[in-house]
Amino acid sequence: MDLNLKGKTTIVTGGSKGIGAGICEVFAQEGSNLVINYHSDAAPAEQMCRDFAEKYGIKAVCVKGNVGSEEDVKRIFDVAEENFGTVDVLVNNAGRGGTKLVQDMTIEEWNASLNDNLTGQFLMSREFARRIIPTGKPGSIVNILSKATRTSTTKGRVGYVANKAGEEGLVHALAVDLTEHKIRVNGVMPGFVLAHTLLDQQQNNPEEFERRVNRVPIKRVGQPWEIGTMCAFLASDKCELAVGTVVDMTGGLLLGF
Ligand SMILES: NC(=O)c1ccc[n+]([C@@H]2O[C@H](COP(=O)([O-])OP(=O)(O)OC[C@H]3O[C@@H](n4cnc5c(N)ncnc54)[C@H](OP(=O)(O)O)[C@@H]3O)[C@@H](O)[C@H]2O)c1
Repeated sequence: MDLNLKGKTTIVTGGSKGIGAGICEVFAQEGSNLVINYHSDAAPAEQMCRDFAEKYGIKAVCVKGNVGSEEDVKRIFDVAEENFGTVDVLVNNAGRGGTKLVQDMTIEEWNASLNDNLTGQFLMSREFARRIIPTGKPGSIVNILSKATRTSTTKGRVGYVANKAGEEGLVHALAVDLTEHKIRVNGVMPGFVLAHTLLDQQQNNPEEFERRVNRVPIKRVGQPWEIGTMCAFLASDKCELAVGTVVDMTGGLLLGF
């Protein structure tokens, strides 16, 4: 199936590692040009730009930025427009967990969690809307949520869980505001995906890793490209009927058995 993403421009936040890197690779395979936002380390993002140009014949640029900063968010879109003229797809993937119990969490830590997660998705989506609406062109936003959006029994995740639950509301509210402007907004909910936390666990705590795998009804964890494939499908015009939806990609974790 041709997703018709060839020659389009996609911004992926937190795109240089983990699930974000898998999302970038799928969009590159589909022929979309890329703006890969990274937060701390330029080298992997720069390497991805070179690799994707060579492997898939697309153009990719990378741009450092904190999605929780209005100034950085504007710069990410400026770089996109300087290189590609316009943006067609935004994947809000950047996010960060946490380990603090509520009784130990400072207001600074709470606000930092908000910035990396919910505020980041809000600011990026607002900028996308501000840039696209005046052009009259269609656009698509896909936000990465989590199993924790619906349920979490792990202690020390108060910021993350509250943010991820809020992100589901954000998908719905953005869709209500933006659908009349031909901007479709949807979300994807991963469960356990082999990115940095689980890779670390697989190597350093294999028993805990196995315990997690066994909690998943399909008895395996997800791969970043599987989340990327759903993002590309949702973003494509093959999926125009999906508006304000959140797709469960947890391998059945939310079934609760
Ligand atoms: N892996 C899973 O099992 C899983 C499950 C459910 C949901 N998710 C969600 O999937 C997304 C990706 O997670 P991941 O597992 O791939 O984690 P990851 O490997 O840690 O990647 C997250 C990326 O987001 C970036 N980031 C964090 N805060 C940022 C900010 N303020 N501005 C810009 N970039 C920022 C990080 O940059 P730096 O590290 O350079 O700071 C990193 O590149 C997150 O939204 C996460 O909540 C993951």
